[in-house]
Amino acid sequence: MINQLRIVVSGATGRMGRTLAGLIAAAPDLRLVGGIDRAGARGEAEPGNPAPPLAQPGAAAELLAMADALLDFSAPVFTAELLRREARALAGRALVVGTTGLDEEVLSLLRSAAERSPVVVSANFSVGVNLLLGLVSEAAKRLPPDRYDVEILEAHHRHKADAPSGTALALGRAIAEARSAALDRLRRDGRSGRTGVRPAGEVGFHAIRGGDVVGEHRVLFLGPRERLELAHQAEDRALFAEGALVAARWAARRPPGWYGMRDVLGL
Ligand SMILES: NC(=O)c1ccc[n+]([C@@H]2O[C@H](COP(=O)([O-])OP(=O)(O)OC[C@H]3O[C@@H](n4cnc5c(N)ncnc54)[C@H](OP(=O)(O)O)[C@@H]3O)[C@@H](O)[C@H]2O)c1
Repeated sequence: MINQLRIVVSGATGRMGRTLAGLIAAAPDLRLVGGIDRAGARGEAEPGNPAPPLAQPGAAAELLAMADALLDFSAPVFTAELLRREARALAGRALVVGTTGLDEEVLSLLRSAAERSPVVVSANFSVGVNLLLGLVSEAAKRLPPDRYDVEILEAHHRHKADAPSGTALALGRAIAEARSAALDRLRRDGRSGRTGVRPAGEVGFHAIRGGDVVGEHRVLFLGPRERLELAHQAEDRALFAEGALVAARWAARRPPGWYGMRDVLGL
């Protein structure tokens, strides 16, 4: 009999939540003990939901007591509510957070949680994007900002709630860090009107939204007489769900602390 990793999914009835439920059901070493979502979440009535019970923050302690790991793919306000209201029940369990658009309040709640639990936070759980972060950092170190302008293009489905994507911002942070600067000072979201000459060192972000695009990121280094492009295309959101499950298996064996997907993958 395999010792199964018991999982609770937050944002359980959403797109990622349902994808996770399907993969967990097919994995012999994993067991879905339940889901957490807001009351009356849109996906609740749709087929493919996780098996009951489905709980709400503030009433999920019993469910969490049966779990080794919580996977959260919801929305920043929901993640914050869950962390605040279930802090005690979450202590000691592995937390894997894929929700994007996290603000300072959520990050600070997660930092507190990391004192009691192994916490993996990543805007993108794919191997390819985590490799891309390293490649982009390497390129940014070698291509000087006064000669090579950086623009980041990303495309996602029409339902995505935040822009630029968490992955695009992570790519921007990798570039800023490689150039010893803070992203806030370099970031330029889209352009319109009389923009004037492009300042050296600026990192431009451009978000395309539409259809059912799973996720595409393209980083352009535009230099004199040449252009380097580094790109990633996700073909199926099961890619992210599979990566999150790899992170959960990994985190369940780690001491409390703050980890990223690059730690999980050893990159
Ligand atoms: N890290 C990664 O690799 C990765 C990959 C894909 C997606 N993501 C992120 O994961 C999160 C979920 O993505 P998804 O595509 O599964 O979204 P989704 O289909 O909208 O699912 C989100 C779930 O959270 C619920 N929810 C609770 N409170 C909410 C609130 N205040 N606002 C919006 N939703 C709320 C939604 O309920 P309702 O249905 O009632 O709205 C839904 O059940 C997003 O932040 C997305 O960017 C991360």
